Amino acid sequence: MISDAIINSVKNISSLDVLKIREDFPILKQLIHGKPLVYLDNAATTQKPKFVIDKEREYYEVQNSNIHRGVHLLSQKATMEYEKAREKVMRFINAKYLSEVIFTKGTTDGINLIASSFGEKFINADDEIIISHLEHHSNIVPWQLLCQRKNAKLKVIPINDNGEIIFEEFEKLISEKTKFISIVHASNSLGTINPIKDIINKAHQYNIPVLIDAAQSVQHYKIDVKELDCDFLVFSGHKLYAPTGIGILYGKEKLLEELPPYQGGGDMISSVTFEKTTYNELPYKFEAGTPNISGGICLGAAIDYINSIGIKSIEEYEKELSDYAELRLKEIEKLTPIGTAKNKGAVFSFILDGVHPHDIGTILDFEGIAIRTGHHCTQPIMDRFKIPATARASLAFYNTKDEIDFLASSIKKVFEVFA
Ligand code: ALA
Repeated sequence: MISDAIINSVKNISSLDVLKIREDFPILKQLIHGKPLVYLDNAATTQKPKFVIDKEREYYEVQNSNIHRGVHLLSQKATMEYEKAREKVMRFINAKYLSEVIFTKGTTDGINLIASSFGEKFINADDEIIISHLEHHSNIVPWQLLCQRKNAKLKVIPINDNGEIIFEEFEKLISEKTKFISIVHASNSLGTINPIKDIINKAHQYNIPVLIDAAQSVQHYKIDVKELDCDFLVFSGHKLYAPTGIGILYGKEKLLEELPPYQGGGDMISSVTFEKTTYNELPYKFEAGTPNISGGICLGAAIDYINSIGIKSIEEYEKELSDYAELRLKEIEKLTPIGTAKNKGAVFSFILDGVHPHDIGTILDFEGIAIRTGHHCTQPIMDRFKIPATARASLAFYNTKDEIDFLASSIKKVFEVFA
């Protein structure tokens, strides 16, 4: 049993004015089943600040127009805003060139783009692609499809009982057949933070390109693609406080130049005749069709919002909150955490003796607490731990320690219901 003194000493420190921050998120004010909403499903999607919501409304009220193709003022304004957002993303992840920042529909879209385009050009029969056991289905299935098309092989880095990749096993998987590595930065399901810098360094010793799935990390930690030296990096806007349907693929310019287009259509061409088409320059070569213009602009606004708080301050506060949550959950007998990596983010997957995760989710919902239950699109992880599902609470910087207390007491209530 952890003493109240320890809990209070951890609880009373706060590096962020979280109550003020909560005022920026209108959705957090509502009642769910008559109780204040406690939103702990941030790994699934984050809530949107008013600043972003207002930007979306403003776009449709005064700017809505198609981009890159109009001489009229509205089109020029919309194009400028959209391209300004690209620049904000470039700075946010510290890319070298604007041409390296490609708007996508989201993380899944970005991975499919690379699996398809890189795969088309560079993967041949008997080649090998390495992923890890920690991947989301979106970083498994596109590679399986590619392997089927090309008769290539998918190799999987195993994990230990804490949910950490076994680095020595990764090293053993690398051979002259390895042509690509695609790996998650932070596991959506277990919270494990992978040693991506070490993975990239090792891969580059063999000239193997690496894609980083940053869907669960870009909103929590400073990502610097130059420092990481990753070849590709993908993430989703909706987990970064922006709307759904927008995301980013970062790629090193030199590599992107070599890749064939993913989809054909308007905006990605330079000239078209029935005999031959030439393609637009980067990044437009990979942006066929009218994009999610308001989504892109709102992603830029979300980055402005995050910058106004500071990603370092967010990281610091979320660490505090995570440490506190870990302490509180540890107190609960018959709660087994799934995923106990040393280096772990603000994601808490757990199971309770004798209670199915869906029942945990339903009972917590009646308390106003939103968590996710299920396999979290990571069925191989569930198989590894021989469980069908977990309950998962995932935190963001607008969550409070009081909410964590309420989660802990409500989990205890779950047992009462089932007693
Ligand atoms: N990938 C998202 C999650 O982990 C949807 O919940």
